[in-house]
Amino acid sequence: MVKQKIIVEGGRRLQGEIPVQGAKNSLLPLLAATALCKGKTVLHNCPRLTDADAAFRILDCLGCKCSRESSVLTVDAEQVCDNQVPDDLMQEMRSSIVFLGAILGRCGSCRWSTPGGCELGPRPINYHTDSLKKMGVVIEEDGGFMNCTTPKGIHGAKISLPFPSVGATENIILAAVTAKGATEIHNAAKEPEVVDLTDFLNKCGAKISGAGGSTIVIEGVKELRASEHTVIPDRIVTATYMCCAAITRGELVLTNTKHDDLSAVFPIFEKIGCSVYTYGSDKIYINARKSLVSPGKVTTHVHPGFPTDSQPLLMALTAVLPGTTIFEENIFSCRYNHAGELNRLGAKIDVRERIAVVEGVKRLSGANVKAPDLRGGAALVVAGLACEGVTKISRISHIDRGYEAIEDVLRSVGASIKRV
Ligand code: EPU
Repeated sequence: MVKQKIIVEGGRRLQGEIPVQGAKNSLLPLLAATALCKGKTVLHNCPRLTDADAAFRILDCLGCKCSRESSVLTVDAEQVCDNQVPDDLMQEMRSSIVFLGAILGRCGSCRWSTPGGCELGPRPINYHTDSLKKMGVVIEEDGGFMNCTTPKGIHGAKISLPFPSVGATENIILAAVTAKGATEIHNAAKEPEVVDLTDFLNKCGAKISGAGGSTIVIEGVKELRASEHTVIPDRIVTATYMCCAAITRGELVLTNTKHDDLSAVFPIFEKIGCSVYTYGSDKIYINARKSLVSPGKVTTHVHPGFPTDSQPLLMALTAVLPGTTIFEENIFSCRYNHAGELNRLGAKIDVRERIAVVEGVKRLSGANVKAPDLRGGAALVVAGLACEGVTKISRISHIDRGYEAIEDVLRSVGASIKRV
């Protein structure tokens, strides 16, 4: 494969309007959910992402017929004839684990390989497997593969998650919608993407209540019928473009956003000194022309707290804000890989386990850097917009997993950025 790079020449103030793409972290579980629904599901607002392509390939392997027309995806899951997720797809996209619940729900069995660790450190799946076992799933290891069977069918259960894991909550929901009896998830994830998944499943005939709160109840139904759904706007991509506006002292209107999902993000931008207004049902205006300062301390939490996925992006911005910003990362044990790359651009960031201390500098200078992971890669794009000179970012396949044509979007509002 040709190795591409993103090249950014910093120093341009961004101005204009950006329509925000649909949410990757909604789209992936929604695509998994389509495997449960007989007939043709139509999903709107689907960004072109390499992770979505990988999910398509999994559906293809299961026997579904998938097609795309612009941002509309159609999945025909009338026939599901295989129950196996190929090893290469499992390794390519860690979140393919969310197909487990859906395949079990549809086929009653599943064979898959265990996903390894990833750029964010070890990513155990014990909450997923322990919960499914409570629902009657028997899991046997077989040379790096897991054979899952359900000798007596899947049945409802009372599950208390040790941590409100997004993926485990989604997997349990997917396995429970067509199970025998009711499932209760206590300490469930409250993230908007979980709510989007349950909204879709309920349109298909599922009986799920409580999503968005810490207890979700799923009454098993006999079968699901395909339906039509629009993916929610991506709150992390929204925060990314807000960081781009702020770091260039620019002025942007972001459309197709969901204000409620950003309640922990807006106050940070206001603390920094940006003017942020929401208007209409989906628009955000951000103006960063006044002098800006560090927001002080930023702590990541599960929803509705400040999202871990926005931490790298905000760190890039705070690298050039006067004052000291202290980040405390509470979701992943190893989510500061971008700090070293930002330091190559002249940032002053000191990482001590879960804490990162950012001393704002006057200027960053362009250099060759590597995207360490998806959001860390996007953070380098944010920083590159403010660098003196040229920043060349390699390993951008990470960025393409979650951002649709980031260079085209930013060029449309005045950035000097290209892909080579
Ligand atoms: N965890 C366990 N055991 C498990 C599952 C999770 O110990 O069985 C731990 C994880 O190691 C982590 C914490 O629980 O420390 C939270 O993990 P969670 O399961 O909530 O994360 P996830 O479902 O794997 C999703 C998003 C991530 C996002 C996190 C947290 C998708 C496809 N991925 O991951 O998104 O950071 O929730 O909000 O929805 C990204 O988009 O860049 C990204 C990494």
